[in-house]
Amino acid sequence: MKKILIAGGAGFIGSHLCKKLLNDGNEVICVDNLLTGQTKNIISHKNYKFINHDITKPLDIKVDEIYNLACPASPKQYFKYPIYTTKISVLGTLNLLELAEKYNSKILQASTSEVYGDPLIHPQIEEYFGNVNTIGIRSCYDEGKRCAETFCSDFKREKNIDIKIVRIFNTYGPNMRVDDGRVISNFIIQALKNEDITIYGDGKQTRSLCYVDDLVNGLIKMMNSECFGPINLGNPEEYSILEVANKIIKLIDSKSQLKFLDAIEDDPKVRKPDIKKAKNLLNWSPTISFDEGLKKTIKYFKTEI
Ligand SMILES: NC(=O)c1ccc[n+]([C@@H]2O[C@H](COP(=O)([O-])OP(=O)(O)OC[C@H]3O[C@@H](n4cnc5c(N)ncnc54)[C@H](O)[C@@H]3O)[C@@H](O)[C@H]2O)c1
Repeated sequence: MKKILIAGGAGFIGSHLCKKLLNDGNEVICVDNLLTGQTKNIISHKNYKFINHDITKPLDIKVDEIYNLACPASPKQYFKYPIYTTKISVLGTLNLLELAEKYNSKILQASTSEVYGDPLIHPQIEEYFGNVNTIGIRSCYDEGKRCAETFCSDFKREKNIDIKIVRIFNTYGPNMRVDDGRVISNFIIQALKNEDITIYGDGKQTRSLCYVDDLVNGLIKMMNSECFGPINLGNPEEYSILEVANKIIKLIDSKSQLKFLDAIEDDPKVRKPDIKKAKNLLNWSPTISFDEGLKKTIKYFKTEI
């Protein structure tokens, strides 16, 4: 039985990861300050412990493995706390790296496709350095995550810590907040209520959307591998935002109409992972179709609203 710390374990992805690692027979310590997480995601299980702690402050717990997922991930959330968001990525990651160093623990850093910014190459390969605005409204998240990757690389080089970096692309599924503000949760809730579906810009911007169970399997495979990364994890099936909206309207049989709003500053126009590395090095690729994932997510939101 491994003792595993999950920072951000009361959030959307973290809650699924905690559950899977518990089911696999591990002891799980969820460290979360509930900034964007939910108390209903805290699990009642004999091998699970919840610690309310802000990772921008040091912590001292001896564990075998650390997953760092703590950081607001939805633009709606990090627009509310831009300075704090950078602190969480930079100081929070530093604290967890120092913890990994102290107890010789393995550590996985949840990075993001946002490190590629508004990408000039498509699909995005891990070798692409990105096209990120350093001073825009999204920079707190993008640059915070980029700096966290730098910390991880230097801790590996200087201190030989067993570190893994994954770059997560848009992920969706149950346990997202109703007010999360990301595209899938917004569209499903609007469609269930027969309200207008709000699209920022012309809706031609594309996204690749991965169901959370696939993503969690990828995170665990990465932790158990010899790879440092960074490795892209995401579903390479690409849809325009318009296609996503129409698919959700159809699956729900909703009366919602599309409503176009001004585009968001620095919103990436395209987004699609190249997952050759994940396939070759981790033997990982997504298995859950978009329709199947959407149906499970719609079922969850029906009970939430
Ligand atoms: N969901 C996605 O599509 C996606 C895409 C790319 C990367 N990621 C990364 O995956 C991770 C999890 O994303 P998510 O979608 O589950 O987001 P989320 O907001 O649901 O979860 C983040 C969790 O971290 C906690 N947290 C935030 N600041 C903290 C702090 N200072 N100390 C302790 N806990 C703190 C929050 O309370 C929350 O429970 C994030 O690091 C995010 O950047 C997610």
